[in-house]
Amino acid sequence: MDGNGRWAKRRLLPRIAGHRKGIEAAKTVVRAAGDLGVEVLTLYAFSTENWRRPADEVSDLMGLLRHFIVSDLDELAANGVRLRIIGEYNALQPDLVDLIDQAVSRTAPNNKTTLVIALNYGSQAEIVRAARRLAEQVRDGVIESSDIDEQMMESALDTAGLPPPDLLIRTSGEQRLSNFLMWQAAYAELMFVDTLWPDFGKAELAAALEDYAARERRFGGL
Ligand code: FPP
Repeated sequence: MDGNGRWAKRRLLPRIAGHRKGIEAAKTVVRAAGDLGVEVLTLYAFSTENWRRPADEVSDLMGLLRHFIVSDLDELAANGVRLRIIGEYNALQPDLVDLIDQAVSRTAPNNKTTLVIALNYGSQAEIVRAARRLAEQVRDGVIESSDIDEQMMESALDTAGLPPPDLLIRTSGEQRLSNFLMWQAAYAELMFVDTLWPDFGKAELAAALEDYAARERRFGGL
């Protein structure tokens, strides 16, 4: 969801105004995903690197996230959205962690759209955590190191049980993965669009899906 800051700057507004508009865009895209038949939508909301931003901005982002969970959960729940979190969200403020846990358990029975929010997420840290979990199982004699294969690695990642992404969209003209789903996106189609995240809506998602549908995926075969 890149480009909130630039969206605000172009309007001579503070960065928080861009993030606020970014939340609106996220809500629009979650609704659109449901309408367009997208089963799993993952939004990169806060990276392990985002702690490097000024404390004010970090606090604003946490405030927006808290507000989103408190005021938009009913609508999400009513629309069959199941919420899941990836990343070390337990490091966030305890009240926010509680709110997140409640939201995740409340929406767990839903099955129309899975909304995955990446919070305090970094792909490298996730892979390190998975490696540690497997190493502990080897140490405890639960598994042999030779048992470790791609499937076992996948089930030790935060995304365990979720399908790998088919399409990865980065907004705002940047062309980087920025530590996002690097294992899971091994065969994802990558799409880089110039639209700033606050301007990304249903039409943009539909256009991305149309572009995706025209691509030929070979997964390394012929
Ligand atoms: C990228 O724009 C956006 C972020 C780093 C934060 C997005 C997160 C939120 C709006 C809060 C939580 C979200 C949800 C969906 C609950 P940028 O600041 O990097 O923009 P720039 O590159 O133009 O400066």
